[in-house]
Amino acid sequence: MLVNATNMLLKARDGHYAVGQFNINNLEWTKSILLTAQELNSPVILGVSEGAGKYMTGFKTVAAMVKAMDESLGITVPVALHLDHGTYEGAKACVAAGFTSIMFDGSHYDIDENVAKTTELVALAHDHGLSIEAEVGSIGGEEDGVVGMGEIADPEQCAKIAGLGIDFLAAGIGNIHGKYPANWKGLDFEALDKIHGATNNIPLVLHGGTGIPDDMIKKAISLGVSKINVNTECQLSFADATRKYIEAGKDLQGKGYDPRKLLAPGAEAIKATVREKIALFGSANKA
Ligand code: 13P
Repeated sequence: MLVNATNMLLKARDGHYAVGQFNINNLEWTKSILLTAQELNSPVILGVSEGAGKYMTGFKTVAAMVKAMDESLGITVPVALHLDHGTYEGAKACVAAGFTSIMFDGSHYDIDENVAKTTELVALAHDHGLSIEAEVGSIGGEEDGVVGMGEIADPEQCAKIAGLGIDFLAAGIGNIHGKYPANWKGLDFEALDKIHGATNNIPLVLHGGTGIPDDMIKKAISLGVSKINVNTECQLSFADATRKYIEAGKDLQGKGYDPRKLLAPGAEAIKATVREKIALFGSANKA
């Protein structure tokens, strides 16, 4: 059931668990994530970066595919289709394309420009029934060409952006997209606590969910994180399972080259990763 993400995240905040945002790249990704959320009776957010949107030939294609698949698979759990790290133009395009949720990442603008653009997009998103996420303090690392320095967000700026009527807030607390380096210092819980205290209990978003130790995830949830984004980890599981299939020569046995067979182990591996994350985040049976 396609919905915006507002209610699922308010419920998560009040119930002290988090909803997973899993980024999609193609049909296999989408199908694996939807089926796993349904199997575990969990709400779920499908994240689409601008790069992945382009890869799938545009946001309209993505929205049409997700809507049709949600229906044809008989998905009854709440599903939000969410733009990840959107530009100002990308956010507008996703509203028009039929997404149910957008993120506007204005973290690279100065605070006044971030406020002005976020304010405009809040009005547009809410007029069309979408939820909206905004960002303060960039997430480190690189995702689909979006590069961040990994700043710790300033609580005052967070309060300013949270006060604009956004539905959930991404705030940098030392998190990084992609794999964490061996010398990573971990999440800055002091900063998270201050941000939580300054933002009137708005659901907070933790980006860079891949590779964060379980105890840090649990602590982050206890400090107001209600949405956790995972992208790289599904890519790694998919690649690993696909490599094993090919290295075992299975594509050369019988009709093992059939794409439906070749991509099946990877699709199953995505399911296993999503299952693991949903259990860790505590969103099973919360649909
Ligand atoms: P990872 O790729 O590190 O899991 O981060 C995902 C993310 O934050 C999407 O915005």
